Amino acid sequence: MGKPINILAIESSCDDTSAAVLSDGYLLSNVIASQKVHEAYGGVVPELASRAHQQNIIPVVHEAIKHSGISKEELSAIAFTRGPGLMGSLLVGTSFAKGFSLALDIPLIEVNHLQAHILAHFIQTKGEEKKVPEFPFLCLLVSGGNSQIVLVKSPSDMQIIGQTIDDAAGEAFDKCAKVMGLSYPGGPIIDRLAKEGNPNAFVFHKPQIPNYDYSFSGLKTSFLYFLRDELQKNPNFIEENQNDLCASLQRTVVDILMTKLRKAVKDLNIKRVAVAGGVSANSSLRAAFEDHARRYKWEIFIPKFSYTTDNGAMVSIAGYFKYLNKDFCDI
Ligand code: KG4
Repeated sequence: MGKPINILAIESSCDDTSAAVLSDGYLLSNVIASQKVHEAYGGVVPELASRAHQQNIIPVVHEAIKHSGISKEELSAIAFTRGPGLMGSLLVGTSFAKGFSLALDIPLIEVNHLQAHILAHFIQTKGEEKKVPEFPFLCLLVSGGNSQIVLVKSPSDMQIIGQTIDDAAGEAFDKCAKVMGLSYPGGPIIDRLAKEGNPNAFVFHKPQIPNYDYSFSGLKTSFLYFLRDELQKNPNFIEENQNDLCASLQRTVVDILMTKLRKAVKDLNIKRVAVAGGVSANSSLRAAFEDHARRYKWEIFIPKFSYTTDNGAMVSIAGYFKYLNKDFCDI
């Protein structure tokens, strides 16, 4: 057996500082420091995010290497998120990765954040080996910044066949949550409150746009106007109907996502379907996937909760695939 390929990965694209170590496709450690400073502002404040990354990056990398059980001298390469993301945040991870790769004299691998979300489905853990998707497959990538349907032909060949023309699904959850006076990020809170609500209580706008593209800004506006009108009649409308509002909104978002995905599955005749990104944590979206698997015989791939939001593990597996292709970047 040759020497193992050990990848140290760094993710700092938004408001989570994360580092992971992967050995021959198996995850050894994945450390995430989430930033609480943004809660008071109802959204991520870029300048505060970069400063928090700056504070977190060394302790997080240190922990990831320590937990992995290997020494830094045994690392084969350093992978980092090059983008998309917040410029100041990305710079912290990128600069650290560059410096560390120079110091250790090992290759540097740039990773696309969105491809990493998709490739998270290939992370293996010792003793918990799982089935990975065969190529080609379709992936619904839904996060705070993106909503896409991606045709995944190989780890390095992905084609976006549909995407949002305005807001992302996570953004719709977060903005509607804000209108209801809920804190940030609103997606997980809506998910929790929706469990006690009636998904058919209210009907909201669904966009009519062609192909596999999405639009969520109309839903946000219709939600806002609906609340404005109801609040004029009853100032306690939100408090009295919070769970039903969350359940109905969630149902609408999931319906919009699944309708286009079903169309893509049918047209492309590919029944292997994965979901990825922060919104893939949503319980109703997960239930819709399970339901489609039963009804339409889809072979579905749903990520572990720890791989749904931003994490270094997904960057490490994307970096590993690139390492196998000797796809390195210069300093
Ligand atoms: O992928 P991610 O961590 O960050 C990026 O956008 O890169 O996704 C964050 C998004 C936020 O909009 C958050 O509200 C949403 O994912 N989210 C959820 C749930 N958990 C996270 N949305 C709905 N239901 C959830 N359970």
